[in-house]
Amino acid sequence: MSHDPLDHDAIAGSVTGTFGRILRVHDEIGSTNQDALEWAENDAPEGAVVTTEHQSAGRGRWGRSWSSAPGALLQFSVILRPALAPADAGLLTCAMGVGVARAVNRATELDARLKWPNDVMLSGRKTAGILVESRGRELVDVAVVGIGINVNWARSEMPADIASSATSLSEELGSRVDRNELLVACLTALEETYGLLRDDDGRARVIADATRLSDVLGHRVTVSFVDSSTREGVAERISDRGALILETPNGTEEVSVGEVTRVRPA
Ligand code: BTN
Repeated sequence: MSHDPLDHDAIAGSVTGTFGRILRVHDEIGSTNQDALEWAENDAPEGAVVTTEHQSAGRGRWGRSWSSAPGALLQFSVILRPALAPADAGLLTCAMGVGVARAVNRATELDARLKWPNDVMLSGRKTAGILVESRGRELVDVAVVGIGINVNWARSEMPADIASSATSLSEELGSRVDRNELLVACLTALEETYGLLRDDDGRARVIADATRLSDVLGHRVTVSFVDSSTREGVAERISDRGALILETPNGTEEVSVGEVTRVRPA
């Protein structure tokens, strides 16, 4: 396959399923999630993908911005039409995290782990982030899954605010990774894990995989909420709907939306 820059025909011609068969490749765009949400409203089919060499207004979770450098990351969004009940949206988040971790592990043989709900970690540092944005009231009828993976990005070139807690595939491997091949591996793995959400057995497998790949279960953690409050406890397990079950001094709590930090032993 072609070597880096992102190559529309090489990607669309290498995927074996439907994810990525219909594909937009931009040199630069504000946010692939924004482009994908607009495309979804204009009848893009499920599995259509937007990717770009560079984002000028990349979005992170909770309204934060997402940093990048041209050509150094793989940044893409997949359009899904999952018809999930909102209470099951956490399952989609878990499935996407499992898919990306699996793709990284297959493509590089690194040991990618998941920090609930879906940050992908290498050696305890963040390597990929996932932002699921959805539309639909009673059912999640359109979801855009946006994924940013630090691929060929030297830590010395990362912005200071992320350099201490982030890494990249090339940092961990000591060599560059072909982003076209990695994108095809991601689309294959994401289509597999998404397909598992169709029935109860598959959903149980997603939770089992998210549990096996977890970097936080069994550890003391602090969970931060969007209103800036926090809760400390031991991350016990992931529920069958993808929530984090936390054992706190006041009993068991179920967390559906939050950000987890591992508490380092004193
Ligand atoms: C996070 O960890 O906060 C989520 C980051 C998600 C970043 C990706 S990059 C591709 C897609 N387009 C965006 O604007 N954001 C997501």
